[in-house]
Amino acid sequence: MKRATAIYPGSFDPLTNGHLDIIERSSRLFDHVIAAILVNPQKDPLFTVDERRDLILASLGPSIENVEVDTFEGLLADYARQRSAKAIVRGIRAVSDYEYELQMALMNRRLQPEIETLFMLPAESYSFLSSRLVREIAEHGGAIRGLVPEPVERALLRRFA
Ligand code: PNS
Repeated sequence: MKRATAIYPGSFDPLTNGHLDIIERSSRLFDHVIAAILVNPQKDPLFTVDERRDLILASLGPSIENVEVDTFEGLLADYARQRSAKAIVRGIRAVSDYEYELQMALMNRRLQPEIETLFMLPAESYSFLSSRLVREIAEHGGAIRGLVPEPVERALLRRFA
């Protein structure tokens, strides 16, 4: 039987506990999950792509064996086809996420009709969480414990020390 692969794409700048929650949930549904970091030359990131990749790898617990961390450039739909993915996974926190996500999912379906987008809900406790807010809080010395995995917390504390 063919392995079912899902792509979980994002900027992950940085990985939050909400992202990790979606990675864990999707790793229980799929044989193989690829957390794929977008290489976006237009953005001014806090962490380099390599740092983000290392932080995701360091944050995955030993129980998550079927998750790979990769990077991609260009269109997500092309990357998902190249990686023979059956699905693209996106986390939806609130209704406000839905409009943008719907637009992206339908456009990706137009580009690659064979690949489904699955929307997953993170644990309710993470429904207010975003990388942008975490960056802002860390920059101003606020408490980020519990919002991000420990390796990310340490990296943020070092970055803004
Ligand atoms: O974590 P983010 O920033 O919400 O992730 C957005 C991401 C990376 C999923 C999205 O920007 C993306 O897929 N970019 C790749 C370029 C692309 O395919 N654009 C057309 C989308 S329909």
